[in-house]
Amino acid sequence: MAKKILVAVAWPYGNGDLHVGHLAGAYLPADIFARYHRLVGNEVLMVSGTDSHGTPITVKADKEGVSPREIFERYHNHFLETQKIIGISYDLFTHTDTPNHYRVSQDLFLRLLEQGCLRTEHQQQYFSETLQRFLPDRYVEGTCPHCGYADARGDQCDNCGRLLDALELKNPRCKIDGSTLVIRETVHFFLDLEKLELQVLQYLETGVKDHWRPNVMRFSHNYVKGGLKPRAITRDLEWGIPVPLEGYDGKCLYVWFEAVIGYLSASIEWAALTGDPEAWKAWWYDSQALTYYFIGKDNIPFHTIIWPAELIGIERLYASEGRLNLPYDVPANEFMNIHGAKAAKSGRNEAVTIPDLLENYDPDAIRYYLSAVMPETSDSDFSLDDLVQRNNSELVGIWGNLVNRVLAFTAKHFVAVPEPGAFDAVDEALLAQARAAFDTVGQRLAAAQFRAALTEALNLAREANRYLEVKSPWTQIKTDRQAAGTSLYVVLQAINALKVLLAPFLPFSAQQLHGMLGYQTRLFGVQYIEEIPDALRPHTVLRYDKADAEARWAFVELEAGRPLEKPTPLFKKLEEISAES
Ligand code: MF3
Ligand code: ZN
Repeated sequence: MAKKILVAVAWPYGNGDLHVGHLAGAYLPADIFARYHRLVGNEVLMVSGTDSHGTPITVKADKEGVSPREIFERYHNHFLETQKIIGISYDLFTHTDTPNHYRVSQDLFLRLLEQGCLRTEHQQQYFSETLQRFLPDRYVEGTCPHCGYADARGDQCDNCGRLLDALELKNPRCKIDGSTLVIRETVHFFLDLEKLELQVLQYLETGVKDHWRPNVMRFSHNYVKGGLKPRAITRDLEWGIPVPLEGYDGKCLYVWFEAVIGYLSASIEWAALTGDPEAWKAWWYDSQALTYYFIGKDNIPFHTIIWPAELIGIERLYASEGRLNLPYDVPANEFMNIHGAKAAKSGRNEAVTIPDLLENYDPDAIRYYLSAVMPETSDSDFSLDDLVQRNNSELVGIWGNLVNRVLAFTAKHFVAVPEPGAFDAVDEALLAQARAAFDTVGQRLAAAQFRAALTEALNLAREANRYLEVKSPWTQIKTDRQAAGTSLYVVLQAINALKVLLAPFLPFSAQQLHGMLGYQTRLFGVQYIEEIPDALRPHTVLRYDKADAEARWAFVELEAGRPLEKPTPLFKKLEEISAES
């Protein structure tokens, strides 16, 4: 029976281009996982979008002197392009500045309020009389109460280095217009985690959590140790989703409170776009559906504690509905450190952006390398030298050359897949390995162990190379055409299997190979960028159309007699990077 799999992917802040850390940390593992499940025949819903709110956006907007909307829309459009090119196959990639997301976030807030899971607390905060608004601490400066330094920031003094509470500053003034500030009382909503604590703990402790990665488990348990405290979920801000209550003008939902709601609102938006507005419910209400959250380790508590607490607290979002599914797994990745001559020279851990990489490398070469060094269980290192190395020795050396040699030789001497003779033990062994790989690689992929899955798949390619050495069809052809035909038939079966086994990692070259093996069909659906007209704010999204996708995660015989095309190389050998560059 087809399973429902929700692939929920971290929402990037719309304040800069996507970099390798994002890709290796969350989007690529999510994409590999989604593609695998689609090949298996499961029903995948993969959603995310641009996080348009929060100080990362407003700081950047202030710096450039433009509106926050201008900033996030710019990077949102970059994200759509980049992810389409690198093949992150979202069913929907939207953003958080849509009327739909506003509505769902505000509904969820009101439900929590109704359920008694929110409480208000009064706080002291700086207020600018000239701007007529409360200011976050980063917009405040003044004299350090410890050393007397006149330009201390709201959170820290750059002179004596002490961490400060902004309220301690002497002569506080506004960073934006220099005006003096007054302290006023403000009121904020808090998510009452104390009240939800028992249920959150129960969720973390139920047996199904055996499959969680140890680091995710440890992190979550540390977070709840010593008890959960109420967390503020509103801010005095202009850029964000307004608190949907009278008397709270100028207050918005805190970005972290609403960004995680995006998984739900994006599913709802996706359903509306498909013309079946109820379609999202299969992933959110059906208790058999499995929901996976692909994120970086800095986001763990928001996904294993806060988001589950929000879902538990609402009980039922809309009156007649059931309970929403809690995260089944949160396979968070560690960090990726950037190395290389350039980074070492400048002494900085420079971000390598995906658009930059795409100028020099093909999508599958980038995907291959990032999969091979994915920071699954510990931090890992990225370097361009290593990318080139592995591209040449593994992607080209082990897989690309195998395909090229076998297809070129077969095309030349047989035109089509040869009719095999009787198999010997060596033939049988490779065929058995090719069949078995669907289980071994599949199990790894289903368990979100992507590096291990890639290694297993590559091992089959190594076996196929060894088989070729043993059989040597180029020698066989001189004396025994039938024997050569059998060898080619057998190794072609392994290649056809590897096409599918590697497809989640290398979707573009897999499709190319699929065509070279004489298939007209598509392994995966098609992605496209679409403009969504809505009454308030038209927005642009990335969508996935699975209509023509046909492949299966299973050993399928490449029948004798199937005509083969003359092959074109799947990958490029790359020039070694000199130590100087
Ligand atoms: N934009 C935030 C970040 O990049 C949050 C990402 S995950 C979310 O860290 F689901 F919470 F949005
Ligand atoms: Zn100081």
